Amino acid sequence: MSLEPVLVVGASRGIGAELVRRYLADGHHVHATVRDVSSSGELATVDGDLVLHQLDVRDSARAAELAAELSGAGLALVIHNAGINRGYSAAELMKVNAAAPIRLVELLLDAGAVRPGGVVAIMTSQLGARRGGTKGLGDYGESKAALNDHFRQRADDWGRAGVIAVVVHPGWVRTDMGGDSAPLSVEESVTGMHHLFAGLTAADHGRFWTWDGREHPW
Ligand SMILES: NC(=O)c1ccc[n+]([C@@H]2O[C@H](COP(=O)([O-])OP(=O)(O)OC[C@H]3O[C@@H](n4cnc5c(N)ncnc54)[C@H](OP(=O)(O)O)[C@@H]3O)[C@@H](O)[C@H]2O)c1
Repeated sequence: MSLEPVLVVGASRGIGAELVRRYLADGHHVHATVRDVSSSGELATVDGDLVLHQLDVRDSARAAELAAELSGAGLALVIHNAGINRGYSAAELMKVNAAAPIRLVELLLDAGAVRPGGVVAIMTSQLGARRGGTKGLGDYGESKAALNDHFRQRADDWGRAGVIAVVVHPGWVRTDMGGDSAPLSVEESVTGMHHLFAGLTAADHGRFWTWDGREHPW
């Protein structure tokens, strides 16, 4: 019998794929989304109690369908990992990095997909931290700053809905996005976040965390 269900959104490669491997290794029932289920990237070779779902996070109709499919699933943990950086317009970055995670979390909560006390973690970046300043953060940083702003606007409601919701900086990680010179491996980043998620309590709700369990300034 598997442990409680977990959902990883954007899991074909990089940090998302390692999160799936880690929760499967723990014995969880894992739901993972990829853009193309017939070519699921790193998940094609993964064994375990895994259900793949198709989702391009820009597709709001499909996001609503997925939330309905997961209604009553009793998710103990939702990780919205999907994100983009270089090579996209500012508008596209806003759509994928800022708008999509908030919309999907709202849909999942409205559908009753997350169990009371469940954890919702959205992948942000330290590059989206304004730190009280007004300096431009670049298109990617601005998209993650907008995510953080939307998250803070919604956090009270999400807390009342009974979940523990956080945004997380995964560290600078060696992935397609992070590049070869990043200091952290996906395993190190995911080990830190795995520990962080397991220890979150209601007092940690609505906050910005780093992969290794430190609170990050907004
Ligand atoms: N790596 C770092 O150093 C770093 C630092 C700070 C924050 N982050 C954040 O951490 C998260 C994961 O980063 P990563 O380094 O693992 O990136 P990655 O290797 O580039 O992987 C990105 C993942 O997001 C998925 N994705 C992109 N656009 C999508 C869309 N429209 N719909 C659904 N899925 C989509 C990709 O799927 P496809 O394979 O289909 O493209 C892929 O699975 C991102 O949110 C990123 O901003 C990363």
